[in-house]
Amino acid sequence: MSNAISAPQPIEMPIGADDIRALIRPDHVHRRAYADPQIFAMEQERIFGRLWIYVAHESQLKQPGDFIRTRLSKYEVLVTRHNDGQIYVLHNRCPHRGARLCMVDGGTSRTFSCPYHAWVFRPDGSLSSVPHPKSYPANFSITDPQNHMQRIANVQSYRGFVFANLSDNPPPLLEHLGPMTDVIDNLVDRAPDGEVEIADSSFSLEYSGNWKLHLENAADIFHPTFVHSSSVIPARKAPANASILDQDQTREMLLANGFGFKEWEGIQLSGLDSGHTYMTSFYNQGVLANQNEDPVSAKYRALLAEKIGVERANSVLGMTRFNNIIYPNLIINAQYQQMRVTIPLSVDRTLVRIHCFRLKGAPDEMFHRAVRFLTTIGSPASMIFSDDVEMLERCQRGLATETGPWIDFSRGLDNDQTDADGSVSGAASEMPMRVQFKAWLKHMTAEAA
Ligand code: FES
Ligand SMILES: [Fe+2]
Repeated sequence: MSNAISAPQPIEMPIGADDIRALIRPDHVHRRAYADPQIFAMEQERIFGRLWIYVAHESQLKQPGDFIRTRLSKYEVLVTRHNDGQIYVLHNRCPHRGARLCMVDGGTSRTFSCPYHAWVFRPDGSLSSVPHPKSYPANFSITDPQNHMQRIANVQSYRGFVFANLSDNPPPLLEHLGPMTDVIDNLVDRAPDGEVEIADSSFSLEYSGNWKLHLENAADIFHPTFVHSSSVIPARKAPANASILDQDQTREMLLANGFGFKEWEGIQLSGLDSGHTYMTSFYNQGVLANQNEDPVSAKYRALLAEKIGVERANSVLGMTRFNNIIYPNLIINAQYQQMRVTIPLSVDRTLVRIHCFRLKGAPDEMFHRAVRFLTTIGSPASMIFSDDVEMLERCQRGLATETGPWIDFSRGLDNDQTDADGSVSGAASEMPMRVQFKAWLKHMTAEAA
């Protein structure tokens, strides 16, 4: 008997494919897509329960016993490294009486011991021991998979990024990632030693809003001019090169959000039918510029060229795609070694984990820049993300009311260009949101897993 778990059973609900289709128009979306708990339950089953979902990075699981705790669809799971080196994704639930086993977000432990009656499990989920074994009946066996932590059957990695899938017969991970493997490749290829390592510390933030709002905001290049003016204006007043600590990185990052028409016109957005989207970069000044030749960048560029050749290094460093969204839960910025993971908790509650990476073999100063990028933009207390969160929560409050009920995604509709590979548009377009909802509609109306 296998202890692998299959996809969550479809929930009985009075919502059919036609009801879902009725929520999406070419240029508008009904507020129920963000505010209806039944729609959220359906998303958990049909999107987070069927697609490949990012769950961990292998560098978080270096040694046997290393684990992290996260969510997969409606389940809390542990991603573990077993003694044989294999990675497992296990339900964080004791098979004895159902108790939640692990209460921390990560660490190292050779066993998971249930706090209730002390059944003890190995990192592959198998049952190692039970107290007072003679009190169990003769047919009780610790080798019976029914007594093990349940495993997610489908776990695959792409260059260190671990994904899990609850479907019975999922397509290959590579099919799901499609051209977005480029951005994972680019992040890893930036490391002179060919490997990246997630920083030990990360930020976690919960906001009172639907998960889709975060993905949309990451693809919305129209908002920074308005939402982030509170940090753009002081940055404009601050003297240049006043900080000897960060070579003006923080100031340049704040300034970059001060878009004018010229910047809007210079940015291109791309969207794929799978819901993945990305944009061209808009950090073009100072130490953030791609062709920057300050001493740290020059040293790093030389190190990379030494390992992979000048031409290849130029090609790797020349890719500046920003906010690469791998639908439905991962956002990667390879150029600045940043990553965000979107984890839906309820229809109006979302957890965001924000990480940065160390490029193995690169000068330490490159890692310091990645950390500075993380704290400037990704910290819950940052001058940037806190403003974004305020907008997401205001949207959710409005969407929770019966008024409306339609919201508008029409900006740029007449000028988007679509071909077999997907869509491209200027920065002022809401094309990425339309692309995300196109994928959403496809998954939400697909009956079979
Ligand atoms: S519920 Fe875990 S050992 Fe009893
Ligand atoms: Fe923003």
